Amino acid sequence: MRLGLFLPSRTLFCDSLSIRKMYAAVMLFVFMCLTATTHADHHQPCHAPNMTGFMTVMSLKGEVKAFGAFTYDSMGKKLRFRSNESQPTNTSLGLDLLMFFDDGIFYEIDSKNQSCEKKTLQCTQHPLDIPDDATFSSTANTGSPFIEGEGLKVTIWTGSMPDTKGHYSMSVTTKCLPVTTFYFFESATFLFSNTDIELEIKDPDLLVVPSFCVGQPLEETPEGTINSFLNEFM
Ligand SMILES: *[C@@H]1O[C@H](CO)[C@@H](O)[C@H](O)[C@H]1NC(C)=O
Ligand SMILES: *[C@@H]1O[C@H](CO)[C@@H](O)[C@H](O)[C@H]1NC(C)=O
Ligand SMILES: *[C@@H]1O[C@H](CO)[C@@H](O)[C@H](O)[C@H]1NC(C)=O
Ligand SMILES: *[C@@H]1O[C@H](CO)[C@@H](O)[C@H](O)[C@H]1NC(C)=O
Repeated sequence: MRLGLFLPSRTLFCDSLSIRKMYAAVMLFVFMCLTATTHADHHQPCHAPNMTGFMTVMSLKGEVKAFGAFTYDSMGKKLRFRSNESQPTNTSLGLDLLMFFDDGIFYEIDSKNQSCEKKTLQCTQHPLDIPDDATFSSTANTGSPFIEGEGLKVTIWTGSMPDTKGHYSMSVTTKCLPVTTFYFFESATFLFSNTDIELEIKDPDLLVVPSFCVGQPLEETPEGTINSFLNEFM
């Protein structure tokens, strides 16, 4: 009687152990498959690191809209762009922008007369970071992959901007440094290209609201206006 009771429970114990072993094996297999997939198609958009660099904005009608230095905080989602009037290209825009993408606000700064305007961002997309819902398009080697120092491997990401009936195409390096971003609209195409990027915020003060802008009231956004980083160049 005792033995009779003991044996079945013993059997049960062994069964549950083998089930647990099998479960562990299945889980390991599933895990391996998952890891293999993520390794096989790393088609999740990457995010740019902290950066300091130069940005050129062109309309593809041949006009250089702006050239200037940018500072980007990837964690705080902050961007400063100041066009550089000392450089020789005939640019059409003098801009000083401080964007806070997480807060959905930005400042248009005029350092000369110490004034600024504070506005709401209706669209937080910008050319330094790939939107999370972007689609992986391809990988390309610009220049030559066969000669050391003569090639740049980039991945290209695309997506659409339904509210403005536009499309974008972004290329980034292996470390997710943005190389070029195209914005295509029915009426125009814009190209943002970046050069001389350094992986640090060289001057953190550039990401702080200037004292003369503190307490600035938020301006009303006129009906139908979509404020975005890109919009400042259109
Ligand atoms: C990026 O810069 C911000 C602001 O200076 C800093 O808090 C953050 O730690 C930096 N991130 C990295 C990865 O260095
Ligand atoms: C303007 O651009 C030049 C490089 O073309 C750079 O050396 C200089 O520091 C820039 N000035 C500002 C204020 O960004
Ligand atoms: C610079 O641009 C202005 C306005 O677009 C134009 O009138 C002027 O001729 C240009 N100058 C040069 C040197 O290209
Ligand atoms: C500052 O200058 C800009 C043009 O350069 C002008 O539009 C703006 O009204 C000025 N602001 C003040 C407070 O003087």
